[in-house]
Amino acid sequence: MTRVILGCSELLTLAGPMRPRAGEELRELAIIRDGAMRIHDGVIEWVGARRDADTSGAEILDAGGRVVMPGFVDAHTHPVFAGNRADEFEMRAEGATYQEIAAAGGGIRSTVRKTRAAGEYELRAAASRYVEWFLRNGTTTIEAKSGYGLSLQDELKLLSVTQTLTPLRVVPTFLGAHEVPDEYRGRRGEYLDLVIHEMLPRAAEIARFCDVFCEPRVFPVEDARRVLQAARARGLGLRMHADQLESGGGAHLAAELGAATADHLEHTDASGIAALERAGVQPVLLPGAVYALGSRRYPDARAMIAARLAVVIATDFNPGSSPTPSMPMILSLAATQMKMTPAEAITASTINAAFSLGLGREIGSLEPGKRADFVIHDCADHRELAYFFGIEPAYEVYIAGERVYSKHSAA
Ligand code: NIG
Ligand code: FE
Repeated sequence: MTRVILGCSELLTLAGPMRPRAGEELRELAIIRDGAMRIHDGVIEWVGARRDADTSGAEILDAGGRVVMPGFVDAHTHPVFAGNRADEFEMRAEGATYQEIAAAGGGIRSTVRKTRAAGEYELRAAASRYVEWFLRNGTTTIEAKSGYGLSLQDELKLLSVTQTLTPLRVVPTFLGAHEVPDEYRGRRGEYLDLVIHEMLPRAAEIARFCDVFCEPRVFPVEDARRVLQAARARGLGLRMHADQLESGGGAHLAAELGAATADHLEHTDASGIAALERAGVQPVLLPGAVYALGSRRYPDARAMIAARLAVVIATDFNPGSSPTPSMPMILSLAATQMKMTPAEAITASTINAAFSLGLGREIGSLEPGKRADFVIHDCADHRELAYFFGIEPAYEVYIAGERVYSKHSAA
């Protein structure tokens, strides 16, 4: 099946070097005005100006003067869980903090209790509802973490659900070290033994990455180092929740281990940023978690861009700190709270995110040979994606050249 997309007011190709973009490169979207794209069997064959397009033997798709760009690549999500935490959200509105609620047995542990009690069918049904939300917001690939099971059987249950989230492309990450579960309270070392010796060998059959919630009061750096070294020995790539609630050396550990990413970084200082730069670790910034926790402490994106880090932005979709699947909302927060330009935010949520998942050669830009994962947004200028907020700009969404969402036929 061959298709040619015409009528793109702006075709954001993100074409460029085969590596993550840093510094000034983040602003370069390689836009073709009145652009066109030819696709064959789900793969991009050609991109260029409309007047040069070869439409022979092709079905025509008219974007109607709209922006066409790569699907968002959401490089940090926790999409498989049972129930939600609207009750804790209300408590936070009344003044309780995320840490207080967690210390009293709520937080991640409350979602773990509900998720353990749920069967695979129930979890898949909950997750399919979220898959629909990702798609309608223009996301075509997600990284999906486990971390609400915290036992061998329950972590495997979550990882197996992540494999069923079609039609999204999904990169599974094992997050057994997300929290110490109820039955191991006060026995953190024993829980880590379980994670390393029982869970990791099995999880590594499904997951591509391993992540740890590295925080002084959850898993301090020595613990995170143990888990991540064991994960690396099993062939997994490394990601880290680092310096989210307190600064505890998380960024330095990510640099020491040469992790693919260090995520959050709300409390990372200049020396942490310099260490990430030297080690080539990509920061994944999650402004939705700052916003939804009612904090003002956003990570210092401008300092990271000035230091030439290949910044990524993502939703951190989860039931506690960041209940949003919306990359357009994250673009808005990136611009208003972290002072990233719309172009920088688009690069950070497409090609840079793809490279952070080891998929930079397959997705994240619209170039010949790449997968035809693209979105027609209902605007004529890409800056509108970060400027309007609280809307769903995606008009049609395509994965491997197939339409998976259409606003005009949505129920
Ligand atoms: O990225 N901090 C650890 N993980 C999540 C929160 C998970 C939850 O509260 O359920 C995060 O913010
Ligand atoms: Fe997270």
